[in-house]
Amino acid sequence: MPNRVIVGAQWGDEGKAKIVDFLTLYADIIVRFQGGANAGHTVKTDDKEFIFHLIPSGIMHANKVCIIGNGVVFDPKQAILEIKDLEGKGICVSDRILIAENAHVVLPWHIACDKLKETKAGKDAIGTTGRGIGPCYSDKVNRHGVRVCDLLDEGELRPRIEAIANFRNDEFKKMFEAEAIDPEPVIKEYLELGKQLKPFICDAVFYLHEALKAKKQIIFEGAQGTILDVDHGTYPFVTSSNTVAGSASCGSGVGPTAIDQVIGIVKAYTTRVGNGPFPTELEDEIGEKLRKVGGEYGATTGRARRCGWFDAPVVRKAVAVNGLTHLAITKLDVLDAFKEIKICTGYKYNGKELLNFPNRLAVISACQPIYESMPGWECSTEKCRSWNDLPPNAQKYLTRISELVDVKIGMVSVGAKRDESIMMDME
Ligand code: GDP
Ligand code: IMO
Ligand code: MG
Repeated sequence: MPNRVIVGAQWGDEGKAKIVDFLTLYADIIVRFQGGANAGHTVKTDDKEFIFHLIPSGIMHANKVCIIGNGVVFDPKQAILEIKDLEGKGICVSDRILIAENAHVVLPWHIACDKLKETKAGKDAIGTTGRGIGPCYSDKVNRHGVRVCDLLDEGELRPRIEAIANFRNDEFKKMFEAEAIDPEPVIKEYLELGKQLKPFICDAVFYLHEALKAKKQIIFEGAQGTILDVDHGTYPFVTSSNTVAGSASCGSGVGPTAIDQVIGIVKAYTTRVGNGPFPTELEDEIGEKLRKVGGEYGATTGRARRCGWFDAPVVRKAVAVNGLTHLAITKLDVLDAFKEIKICTGYKYNGKELLNFPNRLAVISACQPIYESMPGWECSTEKCRSWNDLPPNAQKYLTRISELVDVKIGMVSVGAKRDESIMMDME
């Protein structure tokens, strides 16, 4: 069975968790490899809804192992909340969650700095989730971060927290006129969190290495989306990690040769939460209808998601930078309610036609979508379980998307629950 990387092909919230939960049926281990509690991954069962921020979305399947990899910025308080929530709902997680000891830890300074920076930026704010992601990654790269293994040893933790406190408190005072955070109670609290999490903390690299030798099947679960990638996205309106498939390798400590498939999760239309350019955004009643029918409100912050038509240049970029082998197209059912559906096939910029998503913010902002119009199917797809069950106009719409980005469709999703899925060509 193949080892699969699952990545968002747009601006996040494509329905990655739903697809990860479905494909976990065929896997043994699920690994998160980047991002942190900025992610909001929703898994719906018949009677419950879970929103995971750190725990991989395969956790609902008994006996499957879920790993938080080294590339994640790990908030111990959030992880404990999620573990308690799962256990409270009768899902046993002991021996099934592993936390890489070399993942970096999100500290109170990171969360405070994230919020202070955004407030100071005013109208130029990124619109972050306020989860401390950027400041934590920047301390990691600056080589004065705290790693998960440090939580288990006061001798390691104390000097590292003191160094961060010095650096960040100074910044708080000079840049933001904000109160300092006293490191002493933080050291105490994080040592206590370390004690609680000790049973889960391990060297995940060698666990995965042995699992690969034993031919276990692994899913690498991406967070955010390709156009939020710090290198390939709409910089600076991006997150602070590499969200693309290549990140699965360094963010979990598994060589790229272990990866067989890269599945791009594509919403049947487009959404974005937070600020930054969005060429196919609809600020009219059609956008409002997509938001309402699609329930497009952020799983982490509750913010209304901006909505628009499917954008082929965005997904073409995802095809290129991820090396997508398959598309999984989600939320097709949301379009059931539309008489006419538009697809952006390219952009008009400076009198020329662009097929590829540009890098320069000013160019992206000036791009005018070129639309092709297709008739809707105006009936429910919710009960469709095979390609042949789908109405002909829905088949035409999906086929056109696949043609425009030149990647085959492996799966289609027609509802939030696991069984509301159509498996196609996953070879
Ligand atoms: P993720 O961050 O990519 O995992 O996506 P989110 O969980 O943030 O947002 C996707 C939302 O769409 C969630 O509320 C899911 O329950 C829901 N969802 C996923 N797939 C489908 C689908 O095919 N149809 C519908 N109607 N909802 C879906
Ligand atoms: P999932 O995994 C959608 C967006 C934020 C903001 C930008 C930077 O659920 O798809 P950050 O807090 O990361 O510094 O914010 O990135 N963002 C997401 N948008 N889905 C997500 O995750 C996101 N995680 C971050 O809204 O625009
Ligand atoms: Mg989400």
